[in-house]
Amino acid sequence: MDPIHAMLAGVLDDVRDRDAGDLAGYIPELAAAEPDRLALAVIGPRGRLTAVGDADSAFTIQSMSKPFVFALALEALGRDEVLRFVGVEPSGEPFNAISLEHGTGRPANPLINAGAIATTGLIPGPGLDARSGRILEGLSRFAGRRLTVDESVYASESATGDRNRALGHLMRSHGVILGEVSDTVEAYFRQCSVLVTVSDVAVMAGTLAFGGRNPLTGEQVISERTARDVISVMTSCGMYDASGSWLLRVGLPAKSGVAGGLLALAPSQFGVGVFSPRLDAHGNSTRGQLLLERLSDVFGMHMF
Ligand code: DON
Repeated sequence: MDPIHAMLAGVLDDVRDRDAGDLAGYIPELAAAEPDRLALAVIGPRGRLTAVGDADSAFTIQSMSKPFVFALALEALGRDEVLRFVGVEPSGEPFNAISLEHGTGRPANPLINAGAIATTGLIPGPGLDARSGRILEGLSRFAGRRLTVDESVYASESATGDRNRALGHLMRSHGVILGEVSDTVEAYFRQCSVLVTVSDVAVMAGTLAFGGRNPLTGEQVISERTARDVISVMTSCGMYDASGSWLLRVGLPAKSGVAGGLLALAPSQFGVGVFSPRLDAHGNSTRGQLLLERLSDVFGMHMF
């Protein structure tokens, strides 16, 4: 067996029986997921991709879309303009908090829901279809293949998304969202409902790790500076109100999603995708975090 494959399979086995937590119950379609799935994929600088476990399982990208849509907004508008609408400070609050900076209505950062919705609103439309199409096309370039939306998950998100809609309306009242709230919030629900595998997630993380260049296709998807900006925000904010303890334990920039996906990267070295649907109280994959903690130990990858 290939040694990298064997090592990753070993790390997977180390955490297999250490699951805890629940599926994301607030979105009915996610609550119907198969809870025992477990998968891991790693990509290196020359595009060598190794995937182990349930690597063919597709799941929705959820909040792992947020850093990539932030990247697309930075590319479209430039950093100064984007930062007029969203901050880059850790919120220390749960992912769905009403995080509107006093006075300005600007959300704390683009990786919590409020900030992500504001960021989605910055992607040029006009209208839902154009905005969603642009986001799907952008996410696909990060993954190096044509991604699709899971229409059942999208319908489920939209049917239960009143809190996100409320955040959208609050931000519109502060001028952080311009135009129709539904054009922005529905585009956000659609971006969360994009289907990926752990290999896609690893390639997407790798594209950030390798200065915006997709390690599989060789395409320069975003500038090196945008990649650096996104990784910086992931480092301080990617795991919500668990970002500090994550940095202490694992020491890698990361982003989670409520379907159980988790991505992490070591700049210039590798991109990782992980999938295990049961979540802890912060909405982060329980075994996904353990897997990355093990990987960080085994490869000595803590940044500090
Ligand atoms: O906004 C929501 O509720 C979801 N569609 C995405 C949230 C999410 O993934 C939180 N992360 N762990």
